[in-house]
Amino acid sequence: MENGSPEGLVIDNHKDGLFRVNRRAFTDPHVLELERERVFAQCWTYAGHESEIPNPGDFRARRVADRPVILVRGTDGQVRVLLNTCTHRGAQVCRERSGNAKTFQCAYHAWTYNNQGELVGVPGEDAYSEAFDRRELGLVNAPRTESYRGFIFVSFDPAIEGLVAYLAEAREYLDLVCDQSEKGMEIISGTQLYSMRANWKLLVENSIDGYHALPTHRRYFDFLADTGANVQGMRIAGTAKSLGNGHAVIENPEVPFGRPVADWIPAWGEAKKAELEALYKKLADRFGTERAYNIAKVSRNLLIFPNLIINDIMSITVRTFFPLAPDYMEITAWALAPQEESPEDRTLRLDNFLTFLGPGGFATPDDVEMLESCQRGYANVREVEWSDISRGMKRKAPLASDELQMQVFWRRWNELITRSRPARVREAA
Ligand code: FES
Ligand SMILES: [Fe+2]
Repeated sequence: MENGSPEGLVIDNHKDGLFRVNRRAFTDPHVLELERERVFAQCWTYAGHESEIPNPGDFRARRVADRPVILVRGTDGQVRVLLNTCTHRGAQVCRERSGNAKTFQCAYHAWTYNNQGELVGVPGEDAYSEAFDRRELGLVNAPRTESYRGFIFVSFDPAIEGLVAYLAEAREYLDLVCDQSEKGMEIISGTQLYSMRANWKLLVENSIDGYHALPTHRRYFDFLADTGANVQGMRIAGTAKSLGNGHAVIENPEVPFGRPVADWIPAWGEAKKAELEALYKKLADRFGTERAYNIAKVSRNLLIFPNLIINDIMSITVRTFFPLAPDYMEITAWALAPQEESPEDRTLRLDNFLTFLGPGGFATPDDVEMLESCQRGYANVREVEWSDISRGMKRKAPLASDELQMQVFWRRWNELITRSRPARVREAA
């Protein structure tokens, strides 16, 4: 393997049950360049949720796959993802994070666009020739935008397969999240923005890593044990599954923490018990007992390749992140909840959300410390070239504490980065 080449970064040895990743994948700027071109520009990436822009004119400006974009619901009711760059000379036409607007006016020379992207005002338009046609100069839409049950994705590959095909079996897991509400799920107002001095793929691994839970988050499990929870069951029962196209999930049926969707724990008090049981019964009436059990009693950490994580555990976190450098990423996270949830349940959910997953919670600071520690360790990449991700490789039914789910990610990543299997071909499960 040459420095700068994407070949040979992943060793996937089925025969002997060994899986290794060269640490250059986490440190080499050339790899990041290739990721921009072959991963982020070639996949569907999560842009936001329809509930964040419920009314005509509502918008959110953010970065998606390293591009500044505006998620906006036009006066016509349609959701668009517009590229946030003026067609005149390039300035970002939207400089607010969120709001409601009929128009976006560029601050540089005051060209004005409506909330459907059309160019509606050019100061001194009579100075332009006949050939200047402002109908051609509207804001440009992301090449592809599609939603699945409120989750809006964009792709910068115009020829990419449809979103549902891309999601493959991950779709069913999104359904398990969305079915928690009869009315529809919504992003709770407020965003967590934080960063880590670590490669973005370390956070992919960490977000679906059952192996690290007990050693890294000992403080949290000690805290749960103090409340009378059964902490030991979790390690044994969880499983891991490939969902096609690089997506993967870990599931834990015996979690020691409560789930606001109908999984009560003693720490929440007797008064809550009947309420959560009623909620569970309602799910069983709607979906049958097996599916109700999967929705309510099973926790899941879902990876939708390449950079969307849905942690449906003690609350639901939607998390996405993007690298700005090989050793630096920015992370955005939101809480997702049923629209019809009572204010009291919402408070419980948010407490749960912040206790473990918040940037100042029990989990996130520990994870940040561990991932930054890995990245610092990679300064030894020339002498210590490989990371080992072989755990459970020979097991027929992999566990959540194995590393199958990371192998699934890295295999797809390697195919894209080396172009050995192009985008748009669905992986056989
Ligand atoms: S760059 Fe936007 S109006 Fe000139
Ligand atoms: Fe963690």
